[in-house]
Amino acid sequence: MPEAKAVNDFFSRIAARYDRANRVMSSGIDILWRRKQASLVAHGNPQIILDLATGSGDVAYTLLRKVKSAEKIIAMDFCEPMLNQGREKQATKDPDGIIDFRVGDCLNLPLESESVDAITISFGLRNLEDRHKGLTEMLRVLKPGGSLHVLEFTQPWKPVRGLYYWYLGKVIPWVSGRITGHADAYEYLSTSIEGFPTKAEISAELAEAGFQNVTAMGMTASIVALHQAYKKQ
Ligand SMILES: C[S@@+](CC[C@H](N)C(=O)[O-])C[C@H]1O[C@@H](n2cnc3c(N)ncnc32)[C@H](O)[C@@H]1O
Repeated sequence: MPEAKAVNDFFSRIAARYDRANRVMSSGIDILWRRKQASLVAHGNPQIILDLATGSGDVAYTLLRKVKSAEKIIAMDFCEPMLNQGREKQATKDPDGIIDFRVGDCLNLPLESESVDAITISFGLRNLEDRHKGLTEMLRVLKPGGSLHVLEFTQPWKPVRGLYYWYLGKVIPWVSGRITGHADAYEYLSTSIEGFPTKAEISAELAEAGFQNVTAMGMTASIVALHQAYKKQ
């Protein structure tokens, strides 16, 4: 698992160009993945939602549009420059101030136990220095019956794997290097994706952390997966 300081430095360096690099690298398909995640969150009619590793807030803003029951969305990240990118969009995208951008570490959440109805984390679980600690923190702050929705890269279908890893290892660092000026930083992205556990392994980790009704759904040739899990009632 990656070292927290290195992860924070990496995101601080690319924060200003993060959104643009994301759109180009995924050809915009990440927008659809986030919408799917938000529509699953909406099923539970949560009022207080915590979006962890929120980065520039794309998931938080998608939740704001899609989850009509949401009264408060806490958008948390440990990287201030990434949060600032999210805050910059707030005047136009969240005039009522439903989203609260806050600094916080997933491994030591600055929140009361059993205080949120649903948690989302997108492309963040992979970056945690200690996944088990992060998952147990998520379970702690969820109310009984609350839901966790993890969007993360996973191993794609075998027929597309070779091409995909070539794209990750060669094309992404080159393209993102041009957009962000930090090609070396994006090599981290490729290695962290390739080395990430399978859907079944992440499901087992969720169960081990104490979650129930764990499911995983692959999307886009299983490039990414949506994992859902619940805290016992
Ligand atoms: C790839 S970005 C994802 C941002 C956003 N969720 C999205 O879908 O675009 C990963 C984010 O995780 C944050 N992060 C990594 N480890 C963290 C931790 N321990 N606590 C809080 N945030 C963390 C980074 O600062 C970064 O903003």
